Amino acid sequence: MAIRFLLNGEAVEWDGPPTRTLLDWLREERGLTGTKEGCNEGDCGACTVMVTEEGGGAKPLNACILFMPQLHGRAVRTVEGIAGPGGQMHPVQEAMVALHGSQCGFCTPGFIVSMATAHLNGDTGHDDALAGNLCRCTGYAPIVRAAEAAASEPVPDWMRDAPGKAGLAPPYVPESADALAEWYVENPDGVLIAGATDVGLWVTKSLRDLPKVAFLNGCADLRGVTREGETLRIGAMTTMTEVLAGVRKAHPSYAELIRRYGSVQVRSAATIGGNIANGSPIGDNPPALIALGATLHLRRGAERREMPLEAFFLDYGKQDRQPGEFVEAVTLPAEAPSLRCYKLSKRFDQDISAVCGCFNVTVTDGVVAEARIAFGGMAGVPKRAAAVEAALVGQPWSEETVEAALPAFGEDFTPMSDMRASADYRLETARNMLTRYYHDLAGAPVSVLKVSA
Ligand SMILES: Cc1cc2nc3c(=O)[nH]c(=O)nc-3n(C[C@H](O)[C@H](O)[C@H](O)COP(=O)(O)OP(=O)(O)OC[C@H]3O[C@@H](n4cnc5c(N)ncnc54)[C@H](O)[C@@H]3O)c2cc1C
Ligand code: FES
Ligand code: FES
Repeated sequence: MAIRFLLNGEAVEWDGPPTRTLLDWLREERGLTGTKEGCNEGDCGACTVMVTEEGGGAKPLNACILFMPQLHGRAVRTVEGIAGPGGQMHPVQEAMVALHGSQCGFCTPGFIVSMATAHLNGDTGHDDALAGNLCRCTGYAPIVRAAEAAASEPVPDWMRDAPGKAGLAPPYVPESADALAEWYVENPDGVLIAGATDVGLWVTKSLRDLPKVAFLNGCADLRGVTREGETLRIGAMTTMTEVLAGVRKAHPSYAELIRRYGSVQVRSAATIGGNIANGSPIGDNPPALIALGATLHLRRGAERREMPLEAFFLDYGKQDRQPGEFVEAVTLPAEAPSLRCYKLSKRFDQDISAVCGCFNVTVTDGVVAEARIAFGGMAGVPKRAAAVEAALVGQPWSEETVEAALPAFGEDFTPMSDMRASADYRLETARNMLTRYYHDLAGAPVSVLKVSA
């Protein structure tokens, strides 16, 4: 059984080592060297390709951390497939030439693919769409001008890929949660691969061999955001782009946090299940979900269990997950008007959090009835600020109460110093976030994008 997909409109079959990256395959076996290797870790966008799913939209993905089995049943378009079959240029290519959007040209193929994908999707949020593409010499203004100029041009016919049924996938690409559950019980030492935005780097940067893997991209039933009464259920394989769309209305502050999560390429691959299961202390979803009081749903074979999300993170690198058990979904309240999420990172876009603080305080008749406050980047795990919460509950919701609760941060957290931030800075900014939250709920402008001197 082989992997089948469309490459620049042509049907392709592939069989080989499952952790072969698309970038290496394109360059080494297909001679498609327009797709460049820059960082080889998902950060620069030089390797961007467009991937279309059956019945779904097109998305830009980083080929350097995309494994071949993730393409099964999909269509891939590289920069060589952006111009028409007769060589006619795509509107974004014409605009890039006309508006001087390229100098050394190394980044240009990646930009072209990102721009052509946004153009196909009618996406005119050019700054967001291009935040995952790094240009060292042209500067972004001419590139954004080119994207703007091309936006009103029609989408060329050749850009509309229509992938269809792709035949049987190999056993390491199970096609349902049931099939995955069976595989994992039989292969508890196997590595699960969801979006590969973490696992990809184990291969490209740590040069790890992964002898036994299963890809979750075939499990359509693990994907999607659904409303069940007063609850939202998010399947483990839901990408961060889909989570963003699914929570935008209910939880706009959480959605804004996700908008700054990686880049559009990373968000289009990364899944919420992978972000929870990797147990990272600086993952962006867990603090928001813990503040929301989310429940984690785990499955091993036919057995299922659930727990409050915070109980999953036992210690640095250690989660409450048994061999053969996987994350199936997370559920959260459909409403939480007081939820606010603050991400602090060295760079505004496409950067990992130094500190991520999420606050959900319920005030009844002027008194704090409930407080759920959770942080990433402040401990070895995503963690609730229990002492701060205790200092708030039962008190009037006032500046004095907030002030009086600030020392409790020292009881809750002993953060570490690393390349992202010092321990003192982390503690101080966490305290400042509570003050910011108080003013935010009072309606004061608190975003750096809105405050002016
Ligand atoms: C350039 C770049 C920028 C990034 N920016 C951010 C950021 O801003 N914020 C942030 O939080 N993260 C960021 N990340 C990290 C990464 O995107 C996230 O951790 C991501 O959510 C991981 O999801 P994935 O689907 O790619 O997981 P994978 O890499 O496929 O898997 C991660 C881990 O989870 C396990 N796993 C996956 N799915 C399941 C499941 N259903 N059940 C059990 N185990 C499972 C895997 O075996 C592996 O151990 C970034 C990564 C890159 C490369
Ligand atoms: S080479 Fe930099 S994102 Fe792939
Ligand atoms: S044109 Fe040189 S890096 Fe962008």
